[in-house]
Amino acid sequence: MIPIAKPIFDDEMIAAAADVLKSGMVVQGKKVGEFEENFAGYIGVKYAIAISNGTAALHTALLSHKIKAGDEVVVPSFSFIATANSVMMCGAKPVFVDISEDFCIDIEDVKEKITSRTKAIMPVHLYGQPCDIKALVDLAEDHQIILIEDAAQAHGAEFSTKKVGSFGTGCFSFYATKNMTTIEGGMITTNDKKVCERAKLIRDHGMPKRYVHTVFGYNYRMNDVQAAIGLLQLKHLDEWNNTRIKNADLLTSLLSDVKGVITPKTYPNRKHVFHQYTIRITPEFRTTREKLIEELRANDIGSLIYYPIPIHKQKLYENIGLNLSLPKTEQVVKEVLSLPIHPSVKKEDLDKIANVIKGREE
Ligand SMILES: Cc1ncc(COP(=O)(O)O)c(C=O)c1O
Repeated sequence: MIPIAKPIFDDEMIAAAADVLKSGMVVQGKKVGEFEENFAGYIGVKYAIAISNGTAALHTALLSHKIKAGDEVVVPSFSFIATANSVMMCGAKPVFVDISEDFCIDIEDVKEKITSRTKAIMPVHLYGQPCDIKALVDLAEDHQIILIEDAAQAHGAEFSTKKVGSFGTGCFSFYATKNMTTIEGGMITTNDKKVCERAKLIRDHGMPKRYVHTVFGYNYRMNDVQAAIGLLQLKHLDEWNNTRIKNADLLTSLLSDVKGVITPKTYPNRKHVFHQYTIRITPEFRTTREKLIEELRANDIGSLIYYPIPIHKQKLYENIGLNLSLPKTEQVVKEVLSLPIHPSVKKEDLDKIANVIKGREE
């Protein structure tokens, strides 16, 4: 079986996790601080705050920027539900915008949807593709609004050689399928000392000193076993991302002449780290997307649709999304299909995937 994702835990990571367990210092030991310091250095920001998961990172980042009921936050509808849910968790309103050819937020649509209630823009670097973040930095500055990057899928991705998560307040997920993992886990990155201080309070029940509570908070702490694994995962991240990029390039060349398949877009000034390698299956393709998924499965190849229903069309969001039209988003959900290119995928696996897509007998 070629799975769509495969976390890597080597002997060193297993030993590091065991060492923490044996030490007895499993929470609030040294590892979380060390992981924060190394991750901040990697992203190129002053501060990083470790959090229990990516959703908690988004929620805490929004709260640290004082997003509250009555505020609007501009988000893409083509994302994982956590992007919008984290806004709802603050009592604020997600305002959904369409996407561009890069699968990321459409800057022109963002401009149209900014109102006097807009407090933040939260783009998603979807599939590991950096969005046009420089344009959003300028827009946020012009309108004096906050920029929070949902970088849950984009560890190590770059825009003009600067890492995503360093343009605004960055939020990462270390869920098991991500480019680096702590099984569950998350991180906030920022250059703003106040945001860092507030985030640290919010993740630990608003507690600056033991059993003294100054603000409302949550238990969003990361533990030292997660951090010990994360520190070693971070060391491998660039090498793993490079393998993803190499695999993606090869698959794109293998699929270049397949009628009806659109391969992922890349841009000279952006480093796409291919958390997902996502093609579009258009009506010119020899069969339907659903039949292709069956053919891949019959050949022991995992594939997945990220995401079959846009957030504004989810039942949960029918009050906001009912009369909303986001044509590009509504089109691509019918076409996208992600294929395995993670670091454990070999050249022969990519040949096999391409042959099945071409309809050749395996
Ligand atoms: C775009 C996006 N945002 C947020 C999240 C939430 O992260 P987590 O699953 O760690 O809570 C994810 C995770 O899958 C994601 O893909």
